[in-house]
Amino acid sequence: MTSNDVSNLKKLVAEKAVNDYVKDGMIVGLGTGSTAAFAIKKIGELIANGMKLTCVATSIQTEDLATEYGVNVVPLCDVDHVDVTIDGADEVDPQLQLIKGLGGALLREKIVAAATVTEIIIADESKIVEKLGTKAPLPVEVVPYGHNRTAFALKKQGCEPTLRKINGEVFRTDSGNFIYDCRFQSIDSPFFLESRINVIPGVVENGLFLNTASVVLISHPNGTITKMEK
Ligand code: A5P
Repeated sequence: MTSNDVSNLKKLVAEKAVNDYVKDGMIVGLGTGSTAAFAIKKIGELIANGMKLTCVATSIQTEDLATEYGVNVVPLCDVDHVDVTIDGADEVDPQLQLIKGLGGALLREKIVAAATVTEIIIADESKIVEKLGTKAPLPVEVVPYGHNRTAFALKKQGCEPTLRKINGEVFRTDSGNFIYDCRFQSIDSPFFLESRINVIPGVVENGLFLNTASVVLISHPNGTITKMEK
């Protein structure tokens, strides 16, 4: 598949999610990443056509993109809930459990998801896995202080943690933290692993999004979209 084909699949599923789930008057969470970007663009079109929406963003990158598409974003603290969030994912398993955060926005994405009534995940079929951790590493956000000690503790959970760098520079999240991409052979017990990771001092958040997705929409190369639902 060419990168153009992949882009078309992302656009298809993003527009379907917006058309099916975003209604006038809603408070909408805007996800982060290349798939969510198509949803933000579509939301911009709806607003330009007169729909009234209140939007919150899951990253500074998304906030900037929303502004570019004419979508005003309010701080999450200004709303008491989010009706619908449309976000991407890096892996989706058959139970609708997810790995997110390859785009570096896992902390804000998880905070927005926790405030959300209906979390819609959009992805092309390359993100489907039988078991989490088999394709993507698990991103873990850690505070910079003593980060190599935190990485050592992560390694004891059975993974190979790599400090994320972009063009040789250590990547900083929107909250100024570091990310370790933790490569597992596979994640057999995601709930247990999450509980082990979250008690490591220095860990801010991990990329396991468990029991978070209400609906997952998947686009396929033949142009169809399948819906996975709890
Ligand atoms: C951002 O931190 C991630 O959780 C994204 O949602 C995820 O990486 C999916 O991004 P793409 O849609 O670009 O694959």
